[in-house]
Amino acid sequence: MGINIALDGPSGAGKSTIARKVAAELGYVYVDTGAMYRSIALYVISKGVSADSREEIIPLLEGIDVRLAYADGSQRVLLCGEDVSDRIRTPEISMGASKVSAFPEVREFLFGLQKRTAEENDIIMDGRDIGTVVLPNADVKIFLTASAEERANRRFRELQEKGDPSSYEDVLRDIRQRDYNDVHRDIAPLKKAEDAVEVDSTSLTLDQTVEEILRIIRERLAERNKTGDGGKNGAEACPSGGEKKAPRHTRELTPVRPISKTRRLSHFRMFWYTVLRYIVIGLYHIYFNISFEGTENIPRDGGNIFASNHRSYQDPVFIALPTRVPLSYMAKEELFQQNPAFTLLIKCFGAFPVKRGKGDTEVIDTSIDKLEMGRNLAIFPEGTRSKDGKVGKGKTGVALIAAAAQTKVVPVGINFEGKLGFRKKVVVRFGEPIIPAQIGASSTDPRSLKVLKNTIMEKITELVHE
Ligand code: DC
Repeated sequence: MGINIALDGPSGAGKSTIARKVAAELGYVYVDTGAMYRSIALYVISKGVSADSREEIIPLLEGIDVRLAYADGSQRVLLCGEDVSDRIRTPEISMGASKVSAFPEVREFLFGLQKRTAEENDIIMDGRDIGTVVLPNADVKIFLTASAEERANRRFRELQEKGDPSSYEDVLRDIRQRDYNDVHRDIAPLKKAEDAVEVDSTSLTLDQTVEEILRIIRERLAERNKTGDGGKNGAEACPSGGEKKAPRHTRELTPVRPISKTRRLSHFRMFWYTVLRYIVIGLYHIYFNISFEGTENIPRDGGNIFASNHRSYQDPVFIALPTRVPLSYMAKEELFQQNPAFTLLIKCFGAFPVKRGKGDTEVIDTSIDKLEMGRNLAIFPEGTRSKDGKVGKGKTGVALIAAAAQTKVVPVGINFEGKLGFRKKVVVRFGEPIIPAQIGASSTDPRSLKVLKNTIMEKITELVHE
C-alpha cells in the first residue's frame, strides 16, 4: 500500500492542475478519476447513446476498456487502446461525464481500477468521492473549493485559449448545473469528508494554492508519523523541505483493466478454493521439503501472470499454493484427450488446453479472458520441462499475453536437484512483479515484446540461481 492523498472538490476548482503539481513535487503519481468518467461519457456518446440513458449504458460497460498509462511524465487515458486524453476535454464530454457518473453501475465499474491504482502507488487522486468512498482511509484528505463565479472565470479563460466559442454565461451555467448534478446524485455525491481539510482557492493564485496544499500534506504526514499512526507498511513521511522524493518503480501507474464485478469469482467458490488450498499446502509440506520465498511479491488480487521455469508437472501447484487467487494454466492438448477423470481433475485445477507449436491464437484470447475474470495465469515460457534444471529459451507468447492484457508478470524460479520425490528439497521463489508499461512494453509491437520477454526470462533465471 502506498501513500494515498485524496483531493476532492467541485468542477473547475483547479484540482487537476494543482494535483499534477503537488504530485510532481512529492514524487507521487497523479490519478485523475474525472478523466475515467469522461472516457466512459466519450464512449457512450460515440456509440450514439444518450449520457442520460442508464438502461442503454449498462450493457455497453462490458465492452469498455479504460486504462491509465503514464507517458513522458503525464497521465494518459486509454479508451479501448486509443489515447483519448485530449478528446475528453470538451464541454459536451464534461456534461456527459457528470451525467454518467450518477449511475451506480458506472461508478462500480471504475471503482476497482481506482482502488487498485491507489494500492500499488504513492498517489494523489482527485475526484468527488475519493475521501468519502474510494479511499476512506487516505493518509491526507483535502477538499478544494472556489466560488462558482471564480471557477467559471478560470474555465472560460482556458476555453478561450483553446478557441472554444462558449460564452462566460454558458460556462457559469454549466458549472452550476454540474455542481447540482454532483451534489444531488444519490450515489457518492460530492461532499467534504469529515476528516478532510478544506482549502478555498477563490482568492489564491495557483502557486499559493499548491503551496498551501503541500504544507497541509507535509504537516499531516509528519504528525501521523509522530503519533505512530502512520507508515502503512512502514511508508516514510514526506520530506519537509523542498526536497523531492526519489523516483520509485511504483511511480508509474499500473495500467490494469478493471475486473467487471459480474465476472469475479463468487464468495462460495473462493471459500472452497481456499479450504482446498490449505489442505494441499499441508500435504505438500508433509511430502516435500518445500519452501516459498519472496511471497510478499505476490499481488493480493488476481489478474496477474506468473511466469516460471518449468521443471515438473507439479509446477502449477507449487505456484498456486501461496497465491490466494485461483490459478489457471495452459496444459498440452493431449492431456485432455486421455482419461475423462484425469481431464476433469486438471480442469478443476484451472488447466485449459493449448495446441503446442501450432500458433494457437485461441489460447491467447482464453488467457486474456481468464485474466479479466480475475484469475491468475501461470505460464511456462520455455514451453517444455527442463530435465537438467537449466532455464531454456523463452517463447514470445508470455510477452504477447502480458502486453495485450497490460497485466503484471510475477517471475517465478522453481529449484530442486535431480528428480522430484519424497522429502525432496524444493524452493519456489517469487520475484518483484514486472509491469510491461514500465519497461517500455506498452504495446504488442515486436520490439516491445522482445524487451518484455527478455526481461521476464532474465528475472526467472536470476530467481532459479539465487
Ligand atoms: O473532474 P472532472 O471535471 O474531470 O470530472 C468529470 C465528471 O466526472 C464530473 O462532472 C463529476 C464526475 N466525477 C465523479 O463523479 N467522481 C469522481 N471521482 C470524479 C469525477
